Amino acid sequence: MNSPGIRIAAIDELPEGKPRVYQVGELYIAVCKVDGEVYALEDRCTHDDGPLASGCLYGYELECPRHGARFDIRDGSICRMPAYGEVPTFDVRVDGADVFISLPPEDPGSPP
Ligand code: FES
Repeated sequence: MNSPGIRIAAIDELPEGKPRVYQVGELYIAVCKVDGEVYALEDRCTHDDGPLASGCLYGYELECPRHGARFDIRDGSICRMPAYGEVPTFDVRVDGADVFISLPPEDPGSPP
């Protein structure tokens, strides 16, 4: 059975075209609403750990406020350098008025 995910926000509190950051445990997650759809990715630029949710959205591209790298919020892929790699994304589910995200299962082989 699939996990219902973690509720992070009400859909109405997410502004269209402007990212918001939410903390889940030790993870910071940039949540973006574009054309009514919600996307979630780690709030950490792969170039030098810039806070992506403090950047601007250009359509589906989120620009890091530090040096201008851009990532596609739909899959975390690089749209513009100086990013070093893709940003992890998270599955989003909207259930009624609430937004849930699914975190990947813990890797049992990773150090505590
Ligand atoms: S930290 Fe994001 S572009 Fe440098």
